[in-house]
Amino acid sequence: MARCFVTRELPGDALDRLRAEHDAEVWDGEGPPPTEELRQRVTGCEGLLSLLTDDVDAELIAAAPELRAISNYAVGVDNVDLLAATRRGIPVGHTPEVLTDSTADLAVGLMLAVARRLPEGERAVHEGEWSTWSPSWMLGRDLHGATVGIVGGGRIGGAVARRLEGFRCEVLVAGREGPTTFAELLARSDFITLHVPLNPGTRRLISEPELRAMKPSAYLINTARGPIVDQDALARALREGWIAGAALDVTDPEPLPPGDPLLEAPNLLVVPHLGSATHRTREAMARSAVSNLLAGLGGERMPHCANPEIYDRSG
Ligand code: GLV
Ligand code: GLV
Repeated sequence: MARCFVTRELPGDALDRLRAEHDAEVWDGEGPPPTEELRQRVTGCEGLLSLLTDDVDAELIAAAPELRAISNYAVGVDNVDLLAATRRGIPVGHTPEVLTDSTADLAVGLMLAVARRLPEGERAVHEGEWSTWSPSWMLGRDLHGATVGIVGGGRIGGAVARRLEGFRCEVLVAGREGPTTFAELLARSDFITLHVPLNPGTRRLISEPELRAMKPSAYLINTARGPIVDQDALARALREGWIAGAALDVTDPEPLPPGDPLLEAPNLLVVPHLGSATHRTREAMARSAVSNLLAGLGGERMPHCANPEIYDRSG
């Protein structure tokens, strides 16, 4: 029986499996535990199941000398100080694969929504602005047949590419494995969709020069992490028409404070970090996160570990 802290109740019954084997305390607040509260709760714990809204930084890890397994309920682990965990030999679990298809679905949904102006159309209907069918009212751009640039050739990028075959898109992939250069992707794409993890190499990957290199008719889609895009530059790009529009599932910070200048920009669609937000996927993520934590606490290799080098070293 190990003491664990779980920073939120999770969908489905996966946490019962954790409770059956360990002494698991689950935070029952509406939002994430405040930093100081999190530190207090984790002190003395051997296991932590965290969310992407929890800052699992070096200080938190240092404050928990008994901690020996961290399981993050997300594929991204940018909220965890991986180096600090690795230095302590603590495995950090994450939840790839189970959320790939839901996130790819949302990316395609955002492409369609922003280019076909769905939120704007819905607003117009509700606000009584739909007076008649008109040949030139609310025209957008097609996804079918478009050239789509996928930044990041990983699982989610690949799943987006497979969906776009059905739309007869030309897909350009730039990433570690991608055959296209980033410059070519920026210049040629009608849609650019981001599927890279957030790390020092991808922070602000899309800044003013990249936005200026895009076509004025192109759309930017971000379902990855907010800080990959320089939001001040994006706001200017939208206001000054460097690009046609943007659809964001992620922002920096999250949520955006009311009155954030980005929200005033035209041709912008923002949804609240919903990439994996389906019943089935969030339950599968819970099973994956619990499996990782149980393995970590049991001294076994986590099924999905973001710092597998800790095993190579001790192995
Ligand atoms: C969600 O953003 C995730 O990383 O799982
Ligand atoms: C990670 O982001 C993945 O592509 O699964």
